[in-house]
Amino acid sequence: MIKPVILTGDRTTGPLHIGHYAGSLQNRLRFQDSHEQFLLLADMQAMTDNAHDPEKVRRSVLEVALDYLAVGIDPEKSTICLQSHLPALADLSMLYLNFVTVARLERNPTIKDEIRARGFGRDIPAGFLCYPAAQAADISAFRATIVPVGEDQSPLVEQTNEIIRRINTVANKAILPEAQAVIPQTGRLPGVDGKAKMSKSGGNAITLSATPDMISAAVKAMFTDPNHLRVEDPGQVEGNVVFTYLDAFDEDRAGLEDLKARYRHGGLGDGQIKRRLDAILQALIAPIRERRAELAKKPDHVLDVIREGTAKARQITGQTRNDVFDGLGLMRL
Ligand code: TRP
Repeated sequence: MIKPVILTGDRTTGPLHIGHYAGSLQNRLRFQDSHEQFLLLADMQAMTDNAHDPEKVRRSVLEVALDYLAVGIDPEKSTICLQSHLPALADLSMLYLNFVTVARLERNPTIKDEIRARGFGRDIPAGFLCYPAAQAADISAFRATIVPVGEDQSPLVEQTNEIIRRINTVANKAILPEAQAVIPQTGRLPGVDGKAKMSKSGGNAITLSATPDMISAAVKAMFTDPNHLRVEDPGQVEGNVVFTYLDAFDEDRAGLEDLKARYRHGGLGDGQIKRRLDAILQALIAPIRERRAELAKKPDHVLDVIREGTAKARQITGQTRNDVFDGLGLMRL
């Protein structure tokens, strides 16, 4: 039986955090037996908004790979590969740029949000504006039909499919399959400060390598209900960051519902809900942190995993590149 193909990836801009865990790593773990899964260390995409700091992009390749392996991505089952070492992705990116308009790129809701968040103003790096075409190259070069990502990424998958349809139309045959985003039900995890997005650069993330003290400090500083001043007061669960995190990570659903009822009713202090969250996050992160520390002692082993995965990916993406160029009827020597 041929397994369906999955591609996901992460920009290599720093270690991954629990938002990535809830947002896509859990899905990737779930899929690695049933699917042919590729994980892309997206160092070229990282350069689209980090061109001033290539050293960080380089260093983060190993950090993200360590995170993958530490959470349980098994290189025997999933292929970890490095974007900058897959020339077919660059070839396809250049080609795809001709199948998308500047206006369409500017209208992409993810790009719009990110331009605002980064404060680019009018000085948008061209590579940044165009990275949806590059991401379309990533996805289609592996002929991926499933893309497990956070919900902010779905406009990119949509745009990928538009490009794929145009290519298939010009080629007059279905050279490339369309892809589907798989979005986790929990939705995006806010930062510990309640801001919409958890990010390392925003200083509001709990990384998968956080120490016990870092976890506790983050939980202590976490926003709750600003109107819940005294323990006896009724508290609000919706929009309360601690409960949002409990929703994402507390496996005792009945216990959590009970806790919410008591909080809403009044008489339950913020300290108690934070202690529960702290215990859950400590238990989640401790084994990841330990495995990560062990792996970090053997960087050569990790680099070998990336080298092997990249060699396999080079074959597959190179084949797709040729199929697309042939399918369009371009010159081949
Ligand atoms: N855009 C993704 C992020 O911000 C990274 C990424 C690059 C990606 N190429 C991809 C995700 C292909 C899914 C599929 O982390």
